[in-house]
Amino acid sequence: VAMLAIIGAMDEEIEVLLADLQAREDLTFPGVTLHRGALDGVPVLLTRGGIGKVNAAMTTTYLLGQGATRVIFTGVAGALHPELRVGDIVVSTDCVQHDVDVTALNYPLGTVPGESASWAADPILRAVALEAAAEVPGVQVMEGRVASGDQFIAAREDVQRLWTAFGAACAEMEGAAVAQVCAKAEVPFVVIRSVSDTADHSAEVDYREFMPQVARHAKQVVRGMLARL
Ligand code: ADE
Repeated sequence: VAMLAIIGAMDEEIEVLLADLQAREDLTFPGVTLHRGALDGVPVLLTRGGIGKVNAAMTTTYLLGQGATRVIFTGVAGALHPELRVGDIVVSTDCVQHDVDVTALNYPLGTVPGESASWAADPILRAVALEAAAEVPGVQVMEGRVASGDQFIAAREDVQRLWTAFGAACAEMEGAAVAQVCAKAEVPFVVIRSVSDTADHSAEVDYREFMPQVARHAKQVVRGMLARL
């Protein structure tokens, strides 16, 4: 049976969806609670996984253990692509872990030894996400690479560095961890991020001001996807 998992890192990233979950049942595990139910008639597992790659990996493992057959991550990100503005939407082509550095042993930056350099999002989920994102008014929709790391990016030099090294569209703290776990289980995933800041000196202020509003854009995309899955 198909079971769609929807993960956000923070309450703001899932709260509207959680409020609309029908026949809700809570499944509690050490460190995370999964909410099972139906959203717009689609069976889902919805959860706030917490911030960072470790929480994201742990949560994804629980979701797959509960039978998730597709995984969508919804949340906000800092823009790396120079044309992205606050509110815009990024649909992942693939994910990389920008903070993995085993270059001293001659592995490319971002590569976990023995694993792929990036994890590709599912083509069907990507296509459906793009269709749904096109319905969000007044924002630019971009397909691109998502760079994940356990760092809040807030400096021009870091934006430049990640853009140059990885060609990533946006920076966040969970997507590639979800992707890595999904890849091992051969479960399709996609990451949808709305831009809360441009990951530079104004990132902290912008993030605090815009995060709750722009998180809605990514959630609107998820909502639009449900009708199409
Ligand atoms: N999520 C939202 N903005 C971010 C940033 N600038 N860096 C990392 N994660 C983010």
